[in-house]
Amino acid sequence: MPKDASGLLIPGVLSPKRDVATTIRRPEYVGKPSPAPFEGSNVYSAADIEQIRLAGDISSRALDAIGEVIRPGMTTDDIDGLAHEIVTSLGAYPSTLGYRGFPKSCCTSINEVICHGIPDNTVLEEGDIVNVDITSYLNGFHGDMNRMFTVGDVAPDALSLIDHTREALQRGIKAVAPGRQVNVIGRAIATYAQRWGYGVVRDFTGHGVGTHFHSGLIIPHYDSSPLYDDVMEPGMVFTIEPMLTAGTHEWEMWEDGWTVVTRDRKLTAQFEHTVVVTERGADILTLTLPR
Ligand code: MF3
Ligand code: CO
Ligand code: CO
Repeated sequence: MPKDASGLLIPGVLSPKRDVATTIRRPEYVGKPSPAPFEGSNVYSAADIEQIRLAGDISSRALDAIGEVIRPGMTTDDIDGLAHEIVTSLGAYPSTLGYRGFPKSCCTSINEVICHGIPDNTVLEEGDIVNVDITSYLNGFHGDMNRMFTVGDVAPDALSLIDHTREALQRGIKAVAPGRQVNVIGRAIATYAQRWGYGVVRDFTGHGVGTHFHSGLIIPHYDSSPLYDDVMEPGMVFTIEPMLTAGTHEWEMWEDGWTVVTRDRKLTAQFEHTVVVTERGADILTLTLPR
């Protein structure tokens, strides 16, 4: 069921919808076809930034917990159940659940899936690489992040793709500084990725995040200059979430309208953090906080 004869993924079966206690504050888009248009600023007060950090901590803790248990034989729905349980038990709403009709509490993207894989009865197998993307909505703010996980022993080429993608995100974060255009972020990422022969996905990008899941501010991961010339300023909050590919950066979408795969079905990896621009550079808002 989860893979075809050549080992490529095929759609599985979804579990019933998971509930969220009515005591947990929901984003406004839940139960609607699409979110209300964003009319605010991407620049936040120090107090708001601490709220985004608390939401980011919940996403990070959920990913930490998934990392503790992920193993061959688990389904991506098992991962979703754990993500849902941790995010809601910490008092937050899993932002993807009901976002533009997305049916689950996280995204699980295996092997050739670039992003937005839907958790289902697909069984994780030894050698798979899987991205889990979790956004938590707490006190009116979203914290959005994702990470790669390996399932059992994984081939060296897949491990190096993961390591280089993690480093590409760090290069992007290091390029953040007030007064620079956001397109310097993509330039740093693409320069690094190309040095290692990897493709960089262009059509899915980082984004402004905070009171809204996706504010409309776009953060490209390729060298888009002179486009995307928004100037960074202290307090600006957005995600950086590069997707690197072992082959082409071209993609196709499954008929489910969500699952994005590499056109050549070669491996891809992604890491994501929510960051705030500071006077000196960037501060990551999606880290597990000491308790
Ligand atoms: N968290 C994803 C991002 O990084 C968005 C997922 S939207 C969904 O922007 F609907 F696919 F869940
Ligand atoms: Co994001
Ligand atoms: Co995300």
